[in-house]
Amino acid sequence: MAKRPRIAVVGSANIDLTTFAEQFPKPGETIFGHNFDLGFGGKGANQAVAAKLCGADVSMVARVGADLFGPATIENFRKLGIDTTHVRAIEGVSSGVAPIFVEPSGQNRIIVVKGANDKLEPHDVDAAGEILRQADSIVLQCEIPLRTVYHTVQFARNHGIRCILNPAPGQAIDFAAVAGLDYLLPNESEAETITGMAVGDLEASKQCARKLLSSGIRRVIITLGEKGALVSGAEGSEHVPAFSVSTVDTTGAGDAFIGSFAVFLAEGYAESEAVRRANLYAGLSTMSPGTQKSFLSRSRFDQEWATRSKS
Ligand code: RIB
Repeated sequence: MAKRPRIAVVGSANIDLTTFAEQFPKPGETIFGHNFDLGFGGKGANQAVAAKLCGADVSMVARVGADLFGPATIENFRKLGIDTTHVRAIEGVSSGVAPIFVEPSGQNRIIVVKGANDKLEPHDVDAAGEILRQADSIVLQCEIPLRTVYHTVQFARNHGIRCILNPAPGQAIDFAAVAGLDYLLPNESEAETITGMAVGDLEASKQCARKLLSSGIRRVIITLGEKGALVSGAEGSEHVPAFSVSTVDTTGAGDAFIGSFAVFLAEGYAESEAVRRANLYAGLSTMSPGTQKSFLSRSRFDQEWATRSKS
């Protein structure tokens, strides 16, 4: 049997408080929502869970609060079989939380309060060095301090480990600090925020990717929601279309893409094939409400892939 991929996620864990409503409230307005979901989220945790469900051995490096949510978050990782040696609860700070609003189209708006995620420091990454060095890929997002993100990119580069950075939520990035990064994986709005370029259509996305590549990043994949993903490198860009699905909640779809992409790549699939599969894994996650709870097991994904990849 082929070796199981090893993925290490250095990132965030949040509790998602998701309200489903007919529309988003206007300023000063109070409206009724019709449903509520409380669940485990956070971009880092979501990507770790997606990678685990896709069949990888996964280690998480994270900080949670010593509050109601922290121990439950650690227990959730454990139940799923994710290594939590480097997940610690911090006294005197809340766990990360994310109030989320979802309208009928499945579109969401999210506010993240970072809480304990902001306490993950570069020395915590060094402390996890032994585990990180064994990974096929290290996966990062930006809900932890950027100094920790940059330090981890450098760690991965020093040890020759593939590094995938999801620059979310979108914010200014020090390109010098991520030079030589293997993969930058933003969505359209994050790509816009980072480059200051409008990303309205495929051509604009290509230009935006070229700008990111010119800063020294090796590969750029811009996820385009229902339009799929744009993969770019020195050779040019390739558009990989999405699969058609009935969407009810897009929350965590980008994370489903990244966690599954890291696994498919580590399994040896060619990059564009790994993106095609990740497109489907992400699309399927939008068909039910909630974040991690909408992610499919590998066996269910393989069944869907067997049917849908032929059509
Ligand atoms: O990408 C979705 C995630 O963003 C949610 O789980 C929320 O916690 C925020 O981190």
